[in-house]
Amino acid sequence: MPGGTPIHALSGRIVPFVTKVLIDCDPGIDDALALALAAGSPSLEIVGITTVGGNVDLSMTTANALALREFLDLGDVPVTPGSAGALLPQTVRAAHVHGESGLGGAVLPAPVRDVSAGHAVDFIIDALKAAPGEITLIAVGPLTNIALAVRREPRIVEWARDLVIMGGSYTRGNHNPAAEFNMLADPEAAAIVFAAGWTVKQLGLDVTLSAVVTSAVLDRMRPLGRLSELLVPAAQFYGMVTAEGGPAIHDACAVAYVLDPSLFAAVPAVVNVETAGTYTRGMTVTDFKVADRRPNALVTTSLDVKRFWDLVLGAYEGLAARLG
Ligand code: BDR
Ligand code: CA
Repeated sequence: MPGGTPIHALSGRIVPFVTKVLIDCDPGIDDALALALAAGSPSLEIVGITTVGGNVDLSMTTANALALREFLDLGDVPVTPGSAGALLPQTVRAAHVHGESGLGGAVLPAPVRDVSAGHAVDFIIDALKAAPGEITLIAVGPLTNIALAVRREPRIVEWARDLVIMGGSYTRGNHNPAAEFNMLADPEAAAIVFAAGWTVKQLGLDVTLSAVVTSAVLDRMRPLGRLSELLVPAAQFYGMVTAEGGPAIHDACAVAYVLDPSLFAAVPAVVNVETAGTYTRGMTVTDFKVADRRPNALVTTSLDVKRFWDLVLGAYEGLAARLG
């Protein structure tokens, strides 16, 4: 179980499990908060960050990933840019939600180091091939890079330890009534990924909309030194923070799932992505009546909000102590 504390078979010493994760993202305010959660979690080893055009253009999501790598003190973790646009010629962006920079009100120091050579799709394939069964893919943007990687090398489905995504919903959309943003931004890619043969661990709006930054949560972010300079203005830009509600940090749920799946209830389902509907393009059509079909997804249905914030804020506090 990721995040557990097993006893080493030979020495009897207690050694923490470390889960290797490769994070495909489009930072993005909540992507940044997800990366901060991963950075503050000693039981995760980030083997790479790949970027995709999504919330804002690829040049901006990549620049943000580079800035976050240094701000979060992620060392030599490679940042590799990927697909600028969706599989079909269409562009759906969310700068109205994340700001023109993609990071809302947060202004990070300009990064010193550049991207790694190559393309995200090759990086994903090569990383999974080099460590079969070891790396969990976490995808929190449009699924373009993952779909292209599956198309080029279908064996990544077996090589990945797991695929955990933020995207879709079985009850609603957010970019429009039917579709969640990451699905709508590249429905063809999402359809390929759901049909690829793995069991997608799906963190949809049904759970992520309960991961909200309330004023009590924000108050615990304020004293976090340098880290607060990212967390607080980003969260405040993202939505109105009140005692009862606030902006949902969707993408952090995907990282939290890898850290502790017991935070979530989850139900096997057959998920198909609508690619043709006039009003429903990008909708994740979710059938919980699986019968004799193979479920292609484990769909999360509820979140233990208190334990989620204990996990997230604990990780942020640990990271803040490191960053000063
Ligand atoms: C998803 O869409 C993006 O705007 C967020 O970063 C998140 O990945 C939420 O629908
Ligand atoms: Ca995102």
